[in-house]
Amino acid sequence: MDKIVVEGGSRLAGEIKISGAKNAALPLLAAALLPSGASTFRNVPRLQDVATMGKLLRHLGCEVDAQPAKHLCRIEPPAKPPRGKSHYEAPYQLVKTMRASVLVLGPLVARYGHGRVSLPGGCAIGARPIDQHLKGLTAMGAKVTLEHGYVDVSCKRLKGASIVCDVPTVTGCENLMMAAALARGRTVIENAAREPEVEELALVLNKMGARISGAGTPIITIEGVDELQPIEHAIIPDRIEAGTFAVAAAITRGDVLLEGARPEHMDAIVAKLRAAGATVTAEAGGLRVRGPAEVLPVDITTQPHPGFPTDMQAQFMVLATMAKGQSVIKETIFENRYMHVPELGRMGADITVSGQVASVRGGKKLSGASVMATDLRASASLVLAGLVAGGKTEVLRVYHLDRGYEAIEKKLRGVGAKIKRVKA
Ligand code: EPZ
Repeated sequence: MDKIVVEGGSRLAGEIKISGAKNAALPLLAAALLPSGASTFRNVPRLQDVATMGKLLRHLGCEVDAQPAKHLCRIEPPAKPPRGKSHYEAPYQLVKTMRASVLVLGPLVARYGHGRVSLPGGCAIGARPIDQHLKGLTAMGAKVTLEHGYVDVSCKRLKGASIVCDVPTVTGCENLMMAAALARGRTVIENAAREPEVEELALVLNKMGARISGAGTPIITIEGVDELQPIEHAIIPDRIEAGTFAVAAAITRGDVLLEGARPEHMDAIVAKLRAAGATVTAEAGGLRVRGPAEVLPVDITTQPHPGFPTDMQAQFMVLATMAKGQSVIKETIFENRYMHVPELGRMGADITVSGQVASVRGGKKLSGASVMATDLRASASLVLAGLVAGGKTEVLRVYHLDRGYEAIEKKLRGVGAKIKRVKA
């Protein structure tokens, strides 16, 4: 397994090009199942999770022409219902590596009347149930059965329904929007997730001919249509990648332009960067972040969008270790998203966790160490810690990082970090 080696102490300065958003690309590639004909996506991030989604779509009978180096992906779904059992099924060996595989369920049922997905099971950060996805599909008339670790969903033609989500679930809303796009009649999703990636999916579905309104607000209305047309689309930039590099600039007293970042997707992140003393300014090419001479303590509570994103919690914890004083971080979305804490502790961070709350007593310089990546954003936080720790830090199991960050070491080296990947 590869590892990443970071020498601490560099001040980051220059420009980092932000890649397409992972959490927009995954639902969009799944949405390509809906129209008859080939859709083409540009600005597709070169990530392990995107490659996995491509593999899954091929398994489902799609023609997938992926050109990762050109950030292009063309997907042509099968014209007729996929042949045989396995062709409408997302198998365990794929789903266990990427929970977002569940995003093919809505499109499969909507387009072919049948979808079968291995239950995603838990992952490092939590149980990750899909009950809201299934509640919505049932409300639309689907027959849902759970057996042998798979969820099997079938319905000749879904019908519009009124759905109130118990929690604002991002992929749950995305699955239900895609299913409702081809249902007969109107679907209303209340307590909907408001993430920019949900809005992006609605925009692309409407480009395909769907009739969706309210995306980005808690109430999304979908008037079902009979068929959708294939499209071409450039994927929005990744606000979490941008936020991760913004923290890198903030903790190294850096001055970095996040090229292509969309400030309007990052309000909560920008507000907390400024509270920590960073200077953040929108520029024609993106977002510029300058780190303060002294980082200030910040309190964080993760919330559904537009609140502070859970996917930025681990990264801000590194920022908090640098601030003289105490920062209180509360993780309200996932039940086990503090696995970076013991690893940061090995680098000398003083963090105590009680239930959902982590108290960070910052101000002491971290020291480099060998640390273990456990999940995508935790591994990003360990790389950030390595940028400011004294000496060398080795981050092991970087396959976690490769799921969601395109060439992170190249991008950081490009702004002056002493960082390299060591092949296993
Ligand atoms: C999406 O996951 C993102 N993944 C996650 O990013 C992100 O952390 C998460 O949203 C929250 O913003 C993708 O978009 C591919 P949820 P998702 O359903 O959709 C509960 C990353 O690092 N819930 O919004 O799986 C759930 O347990 C990844 O890029 C139910 O109870 O998250 C959680 O507590 C990690 N029942 C909360 O809702 C359901 O049916 C939010 O989960 C669904 C969710």
